[in-house]
Amino acid sequence: MAESTSKETRVIDTIAAIRDAVQSERSAGRTIGLVPTMGALHAGHLRLVEASLHECDSTFVTIFVNPSQFAGGEDCSQYPRTLQADTDELARLGVQWVFAPAAGEIYPPGFSTHVDPPDEARRWEGVCRPTHFRGVATVVLKLFQIIPADVAFFGQKDYQQSVIVQRMAADFNLPIRIHICPTVRDKDGLAISSRNCYLSDEERCQAPSLFGCLNLAAEMFAAGERSAAKVTAHMRQALADAGVLRIEYVALVHPLTLEEVHLIDDTTIAIVAAYVGSTRLIDNRTMGR
Ligand code: PAJ
Repeated sequence: MAESTSKETRVIDTIAAIRDAVQSERSAGRTIGLVPTMGALHAGHLRLVEASLHECDSTFVTIFVNPSQFAGGEDCSQYPRTLQADTDELARLGVQWVFAPAAGEIYPPGFSTHVDPPDEARRWEGVCRPTHFRGVATVVLKLFQIIPADVAFFGQKDYQQSVIVQRMAADFNLPIRIHICPTVRDKDGLAISSRNCYLSDEERCQAPSLFGCLNLAAEMFAAGERSAAKVTAHMRQALADAGVLRIEYVALVHPLTLEEVHLIDDTTIAIVAAYVGSTRLIDNRTMGR
């Protein structure tokens, strides 16, 4: 199957056919938006899709569970795959093109070139998941090559990923603009993630404490506190009070280098990664605004 149709939306699984689609949109003079995803679409993804539909004439959404960004202990095969529901949702929004290749289309036999990700990849998520950003950077560069869009849309939810993609685009002079969209949250502040469905009722009550501790940092900053050490101590305590004890990191970092800061200013980003039960969640927010 090279191509199938759902309403107005065309689902394509070969590189050759998606290149033809890009070519035909370009020759019609349309601007192109690209939204890379791993599928199992939720409101966070749809926010990026809506931004692309708003900003560009033609929107391409990619759905590809990228094996190279999963480490040994993380099971890529367990990642939720809901292509039909995703396609229906994208059709409802009016997305024209969905690229949903099989792993062998992206990584054919003999594939062996990888992007060595930038320094920003060494910290935080990079410590906990050492090969993750190599896989992300590699697949994102490939997707940019396959679908040479004008604008690519990413979420602030994965802040470190967004920094790395922007750094790679700058370092490799990629002719694509990167648009970062704000994090979409549930009513109680929990950042929407495909992992939230793994939370039990009790864990679901604890999970908003991640956003809570980020807000606490912003409140302390707004009240005049500038010491990162003091603020992170309070953030940790807030998580512990909520029953979140397995913290991977809580930090106040520079927005571009992701280096930990000692003194906070309004550009500083608070980041957190913690386990709620057995589910690993991440979140972040700026100290400004
Ligand atoms: P995935 O986790 O499917 O996320 C796709 C995009 O949706 C990412 O840019 C992510 O930051 C954004 N996103 C997820 N949850 C969001 C939320 N609550 N609010 C706003 N945006 C949100 O990230 C990946 O896939 C992969 O690493 C990928 C970039 C596709 C490369 O394989």
